[in-house]
Amino acid sequence: MQTVQVKLAERSYPIYIGKNIWSLLPQKLQTVLPLTTALLVSDSNVYPLYGEKISAALTAAGWRVTPAVVPAGEGSKTLARAEELYTAAIKAGLDRSGTVVALGGGVVGDLAGFIAATYLRGVPFVQIPTSLLAQVDSSVGGKVAVNHPLGKNLIGAFYQPKLVWIELEVLRTLPRAEFLAGAAEVVKYGVILSESLFSTLERHWQDFLSQEERLLAQVITECCRLKAEIVAADEREAGQRALLNFGHTLGHALEAATHYDYYLHGEAVLVGMMLAVQLALRQQLLAPAAGGRLLELMAKLGMKPAPPALTAAAVLTALQQDKKRAGTKQPFILPVKIGQADIFANIPPMLVSSVLQEYLN
Ligand SMILES: NC(=O)c1ccc[n+]([C@@H]2O[C@H](COP(=O)([O-])OP(=O)(O)OC[C@H]3O[C@@H](n4cnc5c(N)ncnc54)[C@H](O)[C@@H]3O)[C@@H](O)[C@H]2O)c1
Ligand SMILES: [Zn+2]
Repeated sequence: MQTVQVKLAERSYPIYIGKNIWSLLPQKLQTVLPLTTALLVSDSNVYPLYGEKISAALTAAGWRVTPAVVPAGEGSKTLARAEELYTAAIKAGLDRSGTVVALGGGVVGDLAGFIAATYLRGVPFVQIPTSLLAQVDSSVGGKVAVNHPLGKNLIGAFYQPKLVWIELEVLRTLPRAEFLAGAAEVVKYGVILSESLFSTLERHWQDFLSQEERLLAQVITECCRLKAEIVAADEREAGQRALLNFGHTLGHALEAATHYDYYLHGEAVLVGMMLAVQLALRQQLLAPAAGGRLLELMAKLGMKPAPPALTAAAVLTALQQDKKRAGTKQPFILPVKIGQADIFANIPPMLVSSVLQEYLN
């Protein structure tokens, strides 16, 4: 089992990573939390696979566990679902020492984290991420949120968990498209932060896809370590943490312009990353050879074609709306060499429109 420490003074916490480590969970929980009541939040896909197992293990260790299962999918990240979970918490007798445990992908993690941050002004929170995206990204760093009808993640908080438990075995049941979508975020870390992670992925891509145990553990641990380092330096995204939005500027615009029902998040981010590489190449910020390597690895994830009816104008409008919300110029995060990216505020809109147009054609 590997451990990564997220260093945030009194809010520091460990991330445990390994294969078939379930049996160690109760013992590790006891080192950070009192033994009390747990609200086990999960979704309708994940709970039937792993919910009973976790619940039984915690119960055997002396916890009082109440499961709360929401329908799988982004549609559950709402205030209405949150209210149902508050009701479940009250009925389960969860007091200030009670714990909210999230068992699932990023949807469950964000929703359960939001509950934990607000119920009784905050109760302890534990993440058991089960999608690749949640394991390398959303479970680490303390961003929790629900959606509003007018936009994604508009209502939320920074609220760190007490512990993150990454069981690699669960990725076996994750649908392949979801694994690839999470893999886009893995590639992202290599591109912007670590040449060595990037070249490991280049050399061992097939082993990574087939979830070869040692490689998978090494890669996921490295992603968590990289994210933990950034979060420790910039918890509230005042600076460096914004680099993690590489590929997300155009990615979010594509998701919004297709009403969040065409791309998986990672699929849109992959397109956004490839377009960002194009922007960097056209602006001569990145050497052609490096750009070629970046695009080659990204292409292995399988770039999703745009839906036929999507226009550049619609994507650019979505981009503008995003910008308005941020209240500033829309910055682009662009790679300058393998393992390093910077924030650029002055990318010509014509250029953005032109790389977008090439993708749409
Ligand atoms: N808080 C953050 O920092 C942060 C970062 C990135 C993304 N997010 C959020 O994360 C969400 C996306 O997360 P996601 O991609 O994990 O989506 P998700 O939670 O919807 O999970 C994807 C699908 O896989 C299923 N699933 C999950 N684990 C499984 C397993 N082990 N076996 C079988 N099926 C499994 C889920 O039921 C779901 O159908 C979005 O809401 C996004 O806003 C948050
Ligand atoms: Zn993302």
